Amino acid sequence: MIKIGILGVGTVGASVANILEANADIIEARAGKKIVVKSGIVKNLSKDRDVNIELSDNPYDVVDDPEIDIVVELMGGVEEPYKLVKKALENGKAVVTANKALLAYHRYELQEIAGDIPLMYEASTAGGIPIIGALRNGLTANHIESIQGIMNGTTNYMLTKMIKEGALYDEILKEAQELGYAEADPTFDVGGFDASHKLLILASLAYGIDAKPEDILIEGIENITQTDVAFAKDFGYEIKLLGIAKKVEDGVELRVHPTMIPASSMIAKVDGVMNAVSVVGDRVGETMYYGAGAGGDATASAVIADIVDIVRGNTTPMLGYKKCLEGSAFELLPEEDIVTNYYLRMEVDDKSGVLAKITNELEQFDISIESMLQKPHRNDEHVKLLFTTHSCQELKIQAAMVELRKLDCVHGNIAMMRIEK
Ligand code: HSE
Repeated sequence: MIKIGILGVGTVGASVANILEANADIIEARAGKKIVVKSGIVKNLSKDRDVNIELSDNPYDVVDDPEIDIVVELMGGVEEPYKLVKKALENGKAVVTANKALLAYHRYELQEIAGDIPLMYEASTAGGIPIIGALRNGLTANHIESIQGIMNGTTNYMLTKMIKEGALYDEILKEAQELGYAEADPTFDVGGFDASHKLLILASLAYGIDAKPEDILIEGIENITQTDVAFAKDFGYEIKLLGIAKKVEDGVELRVHPTMIPASSMIAKVDGVMNAVSVVGDRVGETMYYGAGAGGDATASAVIADIVDIVRGNTTPMLGYKKCLEGSAFELLPEEDIVTNYYLRMEVDDKSGVLAKITNELEQFDISIESMLQKPHRNDEHVKLLFTTHSCQELKIQAAMVELRKLDCVHGNIAMMRIEK
């Protein structure tokens, strides 16, 4: 019999305990051994929980318990779980974690500490989708050309409701929290940080890149307006918060931001809490992974898959390789060197010569306009000017925006969104 201890019995922890009990037969048949939860750790012992396990508020009751074989870490946070996971590994216990923030900061140290002890994290990225397994096992023959996808269920749920039903941002965020999708601090979701943690984990598996969230371009969904949504619809795009890892000539681009993507693409059709990740390998071509990106049972499904894998004796190294992947060939491409298409939204005077001034500024940076729309404003002398560019370098669009803001005919902030074709 294998005994589990759970650090953090919240939505996911309770689902893990309940599924292990409800589906015990099928899980035992697949793992080859009976798996039971011995105990769980919570912060507040007086809160009612829908679980049938022994609870304590001292994490060392699990981490130092000689009877526990596998520690499941579902606490959230970074430094406290790092300390506990390290201790559990030092005590010779296998660890399963769903904690993407922990891995975004400490995955390489943890791989070192774990050595041959299993440390698994399928649930950390894209909820119930087996994307870690795909990169660690299924695609090992390939050089990975790109990884692109919707990696945060909360924001996809919000964008879908805002775009398709005109729902209000605050109300829909509250709904996502009530459904158990959002992080304890939902700014991690809406600000793109949660997706960046997942992207960094995938980039480690694919490219061996040791970057931290602070090193990469991260933008959230907070500034998307109904004007952007309407423009996207008129011009055949959907807006999705994407995590993008792309091998380019001089390195690997890593970025998370709201993105306009062709409405006809598969990822554009992924709505609600669902996540989808496309991985392109040099030999296999494009592969797609789709499923619930958040929620208790979907995430617990991935946690239990890891537990079963450990019980079966899987000893694959944590990041899928022991030796540094392809030497140090992969460098993180600096943000300013990213090349893509852009959408800009600005308020300008409704006067002759304004367009000429704007296109003149863009010409200074060799930026060419692809499409343009001017929306009259009824009660104001300003109009909204929306346009997309042909592909250009991030450095140039940022510099052009600085110059455009200085023009007398441009008012307020200029909003920008990147486009992936
Ligand atoms: N808050 C996360 C999301 C949970 O919405 O995707 C799953 O990691």
